[in-house]
Amino acid sequence: MAYIKRKLDELDESQIKVGNADFLHKHPYDPQLLEEIRDDMMKPRTCAEFMEWIEINPHYDMVAEASSQFIRGNSEDVCFWNCAKVETDWDPIVKKIDDFAKENKVVENFDTNYTDEWRLNKQEKQKEFIPFRHNSELANMRMHGFKKQYQLLEVTLSDSFPELQEIADLFEFTWEKTDINFQPPSGQFPRHVDFLATPLKRAIEYDSSVANLPYNPITKSPEGWRLCRILLALENWSPGQLFSYENYNWTNWSQGDAVNFNFASVRHATSNCSYVNRPLLKISGFIKEDHWLARKEFRRLVY
Ligand SMILES: [Fe+2]
Repeated sequence: MAYIKRKLDELDESQIKVGNADFLHKHPYDPQLLEEIRDDMMKPRTCAEFMEWIEINPHYDMVAEASSQFIRGNSEDVCFWNCAKVETDWDPIVKKIDDFAKENKVVENFDTNYTDEWRLNKQEKQKEFIPFRHNSELANMRMHGFKKQYQLLEVTLSDSFPELQEIADLFEFTWEKTDINFQPPSGQFPRHVDFLATPLKRAIEYDSSVANLPYNPITKSPEGWRLCRILLALENWSPGQLFSYENYNWTNWSQGDAVNFNFASVRHATSNCSYVNRPLLKISGFIKEDHWLARKEFRRLVY
């Protein structure tokens, strides 16, 4: 198994493609430590070994940055793209989410100082425990003044939103994990790179054949699979709401619009500078190379 780590001169070359120093990626991390983490990450590991390595790594947020294959400077459709439109009666679903958020004081109770896990259901009902957020990410946010983030409301592993689970099922993922990403006004999540650790951890825990597969640190997926995460807008866009994917922004979305993105490399961020909540559905899981999402096909899905 040969993994190719891109060299620093290739890094420079891809930066030059941008043609303007204003677009160069700026991150808050120590460059030498980042390079050491890049080297370490490229060592051959099984999926189980990789997850263990990342979980005990004190620099989780740096590992995320180190994992990116420097995609900035590429065109927008390489960074993110529309993948589906889901048609259904959204009004009762949105109302249910709003009511749930009010009832559970989601907006009031959770900021970047909140480092304990929070579940929709009681812990004893949920043996499949999967943490939402690494504390080093929250520490990085606090260090840079980010006070309010977004809260994840579980869909998979909970019985609170069965209709949203059925909508997630339309995307035909394996080992799928779905949450509502509920971002209140002033909620922000600064630039970062994803690992899609939650579906990977589920698969490793329950399927030893996945646990023992080699982990590919370039695709950030088990060999033979692709991890994939899509975002599905649950309400129409309000001015002031934003997703950034490298040099491009996703705005102006309509209820039911879904986007896919190059999760392995694309640094992304989200902020809500409107005065209304911004709920969307985050669906993550495994797909094979011949899956319609992997082929970048667009589908209209009706629920
Ligand atoms: Fe993310």
